[in-house]
Amino acid sequence: MINKRFFGNLPDGREVYIYDIEDCDIKLSVMEFGAAMVSIYAPDINGADSDIICGYDTLDSYVEGDGYQGAVVGRWANRIDKGRFTLDGIDYSLYCNNGENHLHGGEVGFSHKLWSSEITGKSSVKFSYFSPDGEEGYPGNLKVCVEYKLCNNRIALTYTARSDKNTVINLTNHVYFNLSGYDSGKILDHELTVCAHSYLPTDEELIPTGEIRRVDNTPFDFRQKKTIGRDFNFSNNDINTAGGYDHCLVFEELDFSKPRIEAYDKKSGRGIRVYTDRPCVQLYTGNFLTNEKYPFKGGYPQSPQNAFCLETQIMPDSMNHSNFTVPILKAGELFESTTEFEFFIG
Ligand code: GAL
Repeated sequence: MINKRFFGNLPDGREVYIYDIEDCDIKLSVMEFGAAMVSIYAPDINGADSDIICGYDTLDSYVEGDGYQGAVVGRWANRIDKGRFTLDGIDYSLYCNNGENHLHGGEVGFSHKLWSSEITGKSSVKFSYFSPDGEEGYPGNLKVCVEYKLCNNRIALTYTARSDKNTVINLTNHVYFNLSGYDSGKILDHELTVCAHSYLPTDEELIPTGEIRRVDNTPFDFRQKKTIGRDFNFSNNDINTAGGYDHCLVFEELDFSKPRIEAYDKKSGRGIRVYTDRPCVQLYTGNFLTNEKYPFKGGYPQSPQNAFCLETQIMPDSMNHSNFTVPILKAGELFESTTEFEFFIG
């Protein structure tokens, strides 16, 4: 079941609509601004519904507040060193919005665009955006779509894109989960399993150094279930430079049929499994959730580690590391990628 409702006007007057989608136990709301998820209501072990994602009450806060709440980020999720790369012998220079580096698509990335929308099925909505050649410095006119489909307590996000020039692309969704409910405090006691044998060490600006390091005997080893906070005080490791996890974990194998990640919250009994065709996930524990000016829904204050993101993607900055995933989308070819979030009660 889908219902479309008005959310607000952008500063330039354009109208923004939300779609409420309901199927089985889950109620998902998605909006045209940023093609973002604005709420996910899921039952706990006793059948009580809570909204398990962070976000804001007003459109203005989504426009002005930071954090990429629930949004689709691109053209390039994560960081690109100094915003520079070379493709087909041409040097490109992207807008640098994170110190000296490019982050999540630049000054006005996909997370801050108004997408057009259409209902594509009884529980699916598709958002589309046309990104002109040169936008934020990227080559190629790019038509990009993301479809949300809610079925059997699974939210499937399917991204497609096509460019008229060779270009680079790395799309993800930046939703922040707290399985106890977004207004429930820290997520450090959530249990996490990630089928990742390696991670990408970063420098102090969170740019990968180029090394792909085994997770063995590091805080990044989530192959056996452990709480997110267990190794937070691990000394002598770069986890502390980021104030928590903000790292790309590399999956052992690509296999869409098996979950790559499982997160579980004992308090509520809610869990999520993540299925993806992407080779990596950026595990981010909301270390920068500090903006006092933009509290979350109902005025709930932002606070670090009150939520976590599982941003499936290819390796960040991979155009600048020959040993990383190939980031190129060839002119005229179809880019297609799917990530699914499955909700369960245990
Ligand atoms: C994450 C990124 C963080 C931070 C955050 C947005 O994806 O890894 O370093 O920039 O987005 O606040």
